[in-house]
Amino acid sequence: MTEIRRSSSGFTSDWTHSIIDQRAFRDEQRRLEHVWTFLGLADDLKLDGDWFRASLATRSVFVQRFGDELRGFENLCAHRFHPLRTEARGNGPVICGFHHWQYNREGQAVGIPICNVVYGKPPHELGARLQKIELATCGQLVFGRFPAPGAMGSLNDYLGEAFPILETMVPKNVQRLHVERSIQANWRLNFHATLDEYHGPAVHPTTFGRYGYASSLSRYRYFRFGAHSAYFDSDDENCFKSLLAGCRDGTYQSSHYFVFQILPDLIVAHAKADSSFWFCNILQHSPVAHDRTAFRGWLYAAPFRSSLPRLAHATRPITDILRRYIYRHYFKRVVNEDASVCERIQEVAHQIDKVPMLGAQEERIGWFEESIRDLAGMTERE
Ligand code: FES
Ligand SMILES: [Fe+2]
Repeated sequence: MTEIRRSSSGFTSDWTHSIIDQRAFRDEQRRLEHVWTFLGLADDLKLDGDWFRASLATRSVFVQRFGDELRGFENLCAHRFHPLRTEARGNGPVICGFHHWQYNREGQAVGIPICNVVYGKPPHELGARLQKIELATCGQLVFGRFPAPGAMGSLNDYLGEAFPILETMVPKNVQRLHVERSIQANWRLNFHATLDEYHGPAVHPTTFGRYGYASSLSRYRYFRFGAHSAYFDSDDENCFKSLLAGCRDGTYQSSHYFVFQILPDLIVAHAKADSSFWFCNILQHSPVAHDRTAFRGWLYAAPFRSSLPRLAHATRPITDILRRYIYRHYFKRVVNEDASVCERIQEVAHQIDKVPMLGAQEERIGWFEESIRDLAGMTERE
């Protein structure tokens, strides 16, 4: 048996296994399916019967509104495993397209064509049901996990200090632009790129990196809380506490860039669009295969108070129409630039036999590696 070592950076000697090997990737994902994972936005499910499909540790699931409640199920019919939802979103009862079995809000098969004829008993005696997933929300963010005896902590506990901040950052009924694409690289490589403030000038020379390399790290403020981390671009060493207090009492005013990386694969950022206009971005790098990631992003005007002059504030709903599209243009450019870098690393990942040399602006990548292994319960020896 090969000894697995964790370096001081948080990486283990086998860190590329699930990046280059599909079986190792499957094992990693199976271990992560009990971790609270972002699935989608609650205000996409406004009407009774609205549903969306999502991926939870690569398993297809769907979330549906039943009256006042959201329920989540694995997207797999109990009969012969046809997916119940074959589109990204829709509205309507849970009826399988293969033999028309119908399920209720508890996931029980209650309508089975000619049930007495083909099974010799009524549906309730057959006891067929869908696999339920647990759901919880933070603001409009819907999270899910597959139940397990050891998976007991609430979403509130899991998100910790980020909970009230994300709750405020992702309010109801804001107009959001959506972006998605497939990336031919492992989800962890993609996530690493978001935890790296060092690559701006080389990879994003016209946007993030246009001012070149920082001569001092004084504004780079990194925070680690639970499994997660955050970066703030701020002079104020109490910026995290101030944001938290401001979100709790509704006084926070947009003033600097910050980003939260919520494990396993969610990112919520607050960024300047132009002059004094601020936007929020929700991003997800959802694992699909060892060498493939589904990227999803939502962009919208930051919900915080702003210091805009009254006229600019009053006309913002109009001026944002254009601003949002310009912002999306640059956003997509940044996403594509990061994706290219990750795809190039994926091509040579089988050659990697060392751990990365992380600098001060990449520290959080090591935190991520350490936390993701802890969440996955991967055994190791020092
Ligand atoms: S597979 Fe769904 S009803 Fe047969
Ligand atoms: Fe980047």
